[in-house]
Amino acid sequence: MCYAIPGKITGLDGRVATVDYYGEKRNAYIDLVPDLTIGSYVYAQGGFVVSRISEAAAQDILKDWRELFFKLQETDRRLSNDPKTLYERANAIRQKHQGNSCCIHGILEFSNYCARNCHYCGIRRDNKKLTRYRLDTNEILEAVDYASNKLGFKALVLQSGEDVWYTDDKLHEIVTEIRKRCPVLIFVSIGERDLSTFKRLYDAGARGVLLRFETSDEALYSRLKPDSKLKTRLEMLKALREMGYLIITGFLVGLPKQKGKDILESIKLTAELGAEMFSFGPFIPHPETPLSGAALPSLEQMLKTIARARLTTPDARILVTTALETLDKENGARQGLMAGANSLMINVTPLKYRKLYDIYPNRAGVEDDTNSRIDSVLKLLYLLGRAPTDLGVALETASKTMS
Ligand code: 5AD
Repeated sequence: MCYAIPGKITGLDGRVATVDYYGEKRNAYIDLVPDLTIGSYVYAQGGFVVSRISEAAAQDILKDWRELFFKLQETDRRLSNDPKTLYERANAIRQKHQGNSCCIHGILEFSNYCARNCHYCGIRRDNKKLTRYRLDTNEILEAVDYASNKLGFKALVLQSGEDVWYTDDKLHEIVTEIRKRCPVLIFVSIGERDLSTFKRLYDAGARGVLLRFETSDEALYSRLKPDSKLKTRLEMLKALREMGYLIITGFLVGLPKQKGKDILESIKLTAELGAEMFSFGPFIPHPETPLSGAALPSLEQMLKTIARARLTTPDARILVTTALETLDKENGARQGLMAGANSLMINVTPLKYRKLYDIYPNRAGVEDDTNSRIDSVLKLLYLLGRAPTDLGVALETASKTMS
């Protein structure tokens, strides 16, 4: 045995040789050893070829190492991708880059009417079994007033299906009135609308949009969202960011026929869109949809997605979604926060409407009164040493918002 395995030079380019180790290629400088050619066997260290070795001696050593070399590679791959170490790494990176800040937003689901017919979603147009509801302007203002002025939320997401009953004028009035009465940052999550609508809402004081692109796979997107195009969605997200909005976006994990590559691409796309917050949750099949018979993704798949997003984007705010909490009601939130996530949302929809916002079954938090939910979220944060503070704005976003 020795401290280095010999390699074979398979390419030369000026000062640099390509050295092959059982098919793995590395580069090394050759200037310390004269007369090297393609086919020479060498020892290299620190990126320098340090000596030549005869072919016979090299073959002898390589024969001894061969089996062990591949076994070691396999062990390393297994240990490096062990979910537990992956989560721990992601959590350490979250801690290093974002400290213990944790954003908590409230979410008000003000209408479950939807003009779209997405195959995965329980509030799709064709679900005739669902009782539909809408909060009128006064009810919305009352709920927001309670969440902001009584419960203390500083950021609220106003979410609905795609529902044009809320005209531009109505939405404008709602945002204007909220800004007058409540010291909150307003995010709207109303699906796709004209950019002129979003411009009016921005001028009225809304500063964020939550709009997921759902999947980065164009073909899958078109299959699951009839009459919709991924390109349109992405262009809208870009335009909204240009307008100055903070963007919360992301995708669904575990869609039928979704490839592992799509998840990695989707993480990348979320970052490229300049998301202020990453929001991705497990796809949970709903009985009244065309995907009713599909399988649930595992908790491990979700946690790995969070961890990978954290590793590739250390500064991200990554949400523990309600769907993740639904996947494991006992521990989903804690595990998400320990795998790289650092944001949470609390549902502030009046209880009587909450279970009607039935995008997927058995949603976590549907039965809980908001006060007790706040208590349990704070308990969890304290247990994990997280503080519900603002993370501030990335400077790049700030300069866009100011311009
Ligand atoms: N499972 C999980 N999430 C879903 N959504 C819609 N249907 C489901 C489902 N069956 C998510 C979509 C949408 C958000 C409001 O709810 O990603 O953007």
